[in-house]
Amino acid sequence: MTNTLPKIELHLHLEGAAPPAFIRGLAAEKKMDISGIFNAQGHYSYTDFWHFLKVYEAATETLKTPRDYHRLTRAVLEESAASGVIYCETFLSPDFCGGRDLGAWREYLHAIREAADEAERQDGIVLRGIVTPIRHFGPEKAKQTAICAAETAGDWIVGFGLAGDEKLGKPKDFAWSFDAAREAGLRLTCHAGEWGGPDSVRDAVRDLQVERIGHGVRAIEDPALVEELAERGTVLEVCPGSNIALGLYPDWRRHPVGQLYDRGVKITISTDDPPFFHTTMTREYDRLADAFDWDAGVFAAIARTSAEAAFCDTIMKDKIL
Ligand code: ADE
Ligand code: ZN
Repeated sequence: MTNTLPKIELHLHLEGAAPPAFIRGLAAEKKMDISGIFNAQGHYSYTDFWHFLKVYEAATETLKTPRDYHRLTRAVLEESAASGVIYCETFLSPDFCGGRDLGAWREYLHAIREAADEAERQDGIVLRGIVTPIRHFGPEKAKQTAICAAETAGDWIVGFGLAGDEKLGKPKDFAWSFDAAREAGLRLTCHAGEWGGPDSVRDAVRDLQVERIGHGVRAIEDPALVEELAERGTVLEVCPGSNIALGLYPDWRRHPVGQLYDRGVKITISTDDPPFFHTTMTREYDRLADAFDWDAGVFAAIARTSAEAAFCDTIMKDKIL
C-alpha cells in the first residue's frame, strides 16, 4: 500500500544517504582504507550516536570533489525515487563541500544541482537544499557556513539548519548564523529534541526562531511543550527508523510519533541517513502503518503537512500537493 504513495521527504543528509557500496567504490578509487567503518556484511557499523557521527565523517572523507558529489546525488535520488519520493530537501554542508571556501562551495553546488536536474528529468524527483553547519564544529565555523549559505541563497538553496552533536553548545551560540541566513531569505530548521530533552527544543524555537525542528520527538517528555508546538504549528521532521536504530526508543510501537500526531503536532516523516539505519521511505511508512494502524488518510494528511512545511516556493508546493 505505502510504496505507491507519493512521498515528500524534508530531512535527509546527503552524505548520510550514501550507499555503503558507493563509498567503498570511492575509497578503492582513491586507495583509501576505510574498511573499519563497515561490518562483515558490508553495512556501516557503529556503537552509538557519537560513534555514528565519527563513522559518518570517515565515510565523507572519500567524497573529495564536486564530481564525487554529482555521482553521490544521482545515487541518492535514484534510491529516493524508488521509494516513491517526489520532492526531497537535503542537508548540505560547506564543512564537507570545499571546507567553507565560497568559490569551492559554488562548484560543489553546481555539480549537485546538475545531478538533481538529471534526476528530475529521469525520475521526476525534485531536490532542494538546506545549508547546514555542524554543531560540534563550533559557532565560528557555523558563521563561515552561514556566509556561504547567504551568498548562495535562492534558486534551489532554500533553507538553513543545524546538525551534529546536540549536547555541545546551546542554540543561542548559533543565533548570529541563523539571523544571517534569515536575512538572506532562507527558511530555518534545527536538530533538537533528539539527544537533548524538551529544553533543547524550547531553546531552538525561542533563540533561533525556527519554523521546523529536526526530530523534536523528546518534546513528548513535556506535555506543556507538546501543546505549545501544536498551537504554534511548529513542524517536526520525525525520523522514527533513525531514532530506533540509534537506540533512542526500543521499538516502533513505543516511538512517540503516534502520540505527537494524536495531540495535534504537525509531523512529517523522513529517513535521516537511510543506509546507516537500514531504512527507506517505504519502510518508514510500512512500519508506521503496522505500529499505529495508520491508513491512507493519515498518510495523505502527513503529505499535506509536508508540502505546506516544505521550504520551496508556492509554485513547487502546488505541484507536490
Ligand atoms: N547528522 C547526520 N545525522 C544526524 C542526526 N540524526 N542527528 C544529528 N546530526 C546528524
Ligand atoms: Zn538529521
